[in-house]
Amino acid sequence: MMIIEVRCATCKVPDSSSAEITTKRTKNTKKKGISAFVIFVTFVVEVQVRRRTCYSSGMPSTRAVTVEPTARVRGRVRPPGDKSISHRYALLAAIAHGTTNIHGYSTGGDCAATLRCLRGLGVAIDDSRHDPVTGPEIRIEGRGLGGLTGAGDTLDAGNSGSTMRMLAGVLAGHPFPATIDGDASLRARPMRRVMIPLERMGARMVSNNGRPPITIHGTRDVRPIDFQPEVPSAQVKSAVLLAGLHADGVTRVLEPIATRDHTERALRSFGVRVDGDGTAVAVTGRQPLTGRVLHVPGDISSAAFWLVAAAALPDSDVTIEHVGLNPTRTAILDVLRRMGAHIDTALEDEQAHEPIGTIRIRHAGLRPTVIAPDEVPGLIDELPVLAALATHGGELSVSGAGELRVKESDRITALSEGLRRLGADVEEQPDGFRVRGGRRLTGGEADAKGDHRLAMAFAVAALGGAAPSTILDAGSAAVSYPEFFSVLESLRA
Ligand code: S3P
Repeated sequence: MMIIEVRCATCKVPDSSSAEITTKRTKNTKKKGISAFVIFVTFVVEVQVRRRTCYSSGMPSTRAVTVEPTARVRGRVRPPGDKSISHRYALLAAIAHGTTNIHGYSTGGDCAATLRCLRGLGVAIDDSRHDPVTGPEIRIEGRGLGGLTGAGDTLDAGNSGSTMRMLAGVLAGHPFPATIDGDASLRARPMRRVMIPLERMGARMVSNNGRPPITIHGTRDVRPIDFQPEVPSAQVKSAVLLAGLHADGVTRVLEPIATRDHTERALRSFGVRVDGDGTAVAVTGRQPLTGRVLHVPGDISSAAFWLVAAAALPDSDVTIEHVGLNPTRTAILDVLRRMGAHIDTALEDEQAHEPIGTIRIRHAGLRPTVIAPDEVPGLIDELPVLAALATHGGELSVSGAGELRVKESDRITALSEGLRRLGADVEEQPDGFRVRGGRRLTGGEADAKGDHRLAMAFAVAALGGAAPSTILDAGSAAVSYPEFFSVLESLRA
């Protein structure tokens, strides 16, 4: 066993922890005749991030992490900047007039992908500053509405569906062709949901049978439309509104169920008038955006892993600081309360129309609950970790969540398989799953299949095992939460 420093392969910044590494030859690598080793990593960290943290997803995705069970979790956590909000602030800053300074930008690889794509479109971005408490500070020199320049190379969105879909909306208003590609997971994801409305608005869209890479041939003459998406999706709504910003007239989106409203709030804080709320939103095009100073709230979807760990383990008590409390994102708190957790929230601040506060959560038993289809859009990113919660006790049934099959992995199959490998009682259904928490997990080996939320959900399930568990592809956590495994160690009590 040796101690090494983990460095990001992309930016060479040391990762937030040192690691103990043992190596072991696997059957797979023997078969292929490759003299390679799979690395099993056990983190040995006492505190959360102490050094500058890399915010690219450069962690090797093959890295496996062994998670020891724990009796309880206790402590305070400040989650990384909200991923959804960070993307939107960067995109809007790029088409605003003047400079925008974003404090507390997400440390995840997905949001680094948005910056990378914007640089490829001629946007000057300084990301060299990092505050030890609030995180990365990003300075973006806006190019004004319609001011992006033609991309010489294909833009690389990495693993990020949000980057690809929302940037496509912006590019629909720029009269040059731009191609956006991504990794193997992103290449499998459906893009027709944005291609259809953007074509109606005047862009010509080319794809690989509805999947990435996509090429957007934008136009200066974007047509405003009224659009009713078939699936409730904040990314689709945002793509249409962002294209509509470049149109001459009013663009309206009417959703079947309301989705997160960060685009609407962000547009208002850049000085754009947005009408409507909830399921009906409208924007009048050609309104100028003005650069400004922004503070990103902590990501409640990242905090969800600690909320669930605390709800799951007797005698736990965790406080989440500086977290976004936008009502379109807090449905997880309702479900945790339904399952029995004691939760107190305190609203402390509002930045750019986004409420920010503190959540304290304490374990108080686990009861069965059902998640109905109309709740799914508000919980879409938290469903994997809620499934992990039910492995600790109670029972969780989810239906109407077919969207999970087209996320970073097929999250219904990969989640069910992974939890079963840890010893859980899981029934997979076409549009959901049922997890029964009647028996303690044995521990085992679960494959995150390159999906960040699965890697972290499996780790939270593993905390309740009778023996340690190994999470394969655990490095994918860096897509949204590079500090995840070091924070996990800091909360053991
Ligand atoms: C997001 C919307 C959701 C969510 C994703 C982020 C956003 O996707 O799953 O992680 O920032 O708008 P859909 O719009 O596809 O539901």
